[in-house]
Amino acid sequence: MAFEIKVNGVKHSVDVDGDTSLLWVLRDVLGMTGTKFGCGMALCGACTVHLGGIATRSCVTTIDSIGDAAITTIEAIGHTAAGHNIQQAWLDLEVVQCGYCQSGQIMSASALLASNSNPNDSDIDDAMSGNICRCGTYVRIREAIKHAAKLPAATKKEG
Ligand code: FES
Ligand code: FES
Repeated sequence: MAFEIKVNGVKHSVDVDGDTSLLWVLRDVLGMTGTKFGCGMALCGACTVHLGGIATRSCVTTIDSIGDAAITTIEAIGHTAAGHNIQQAWLDLEVVQCGYCQSGQIMSASALLASNSNPNDSDIDDAMSGNICRCGTYVRIREAIKHAAKLPAATKKEG
């Protein structure tokens, strides 16, 4: 069955079963491999994308549940104001180690910053607790989110 979805501002028609996860549509059908597969059970956060601006585990989001909600992935998060500052902070603080979890971390952090321009430790813990990092970059992630909150507001718009 064909489903119409909008990813990073671009409309796509994808012909898949309705119970196909958004993760596999992104990776296998659209060839957007920035979104990672980790657990497949909403336990690690590697597959996080934004659905209508909300950080969402794409591995457990079926394509027939999306409707017309806008999908944003790591490939375009830098075009949003919050995502731009989060990515700059990640670079400034050299957050990344192996990198596998990091697109999901950046997507969760960007959703947090978009909704809360000055998150405290508790806010960060609440927003990021579902994103697992086997390299243990948690301390740098927390500092980078605080650093991003202090960067000049990017002029780019959420998209
Ligand atoms: S792959 Fe989706 S949460 Fe782990
Ligand atoms: S940077 Fe290696 S899993 Fe997070």
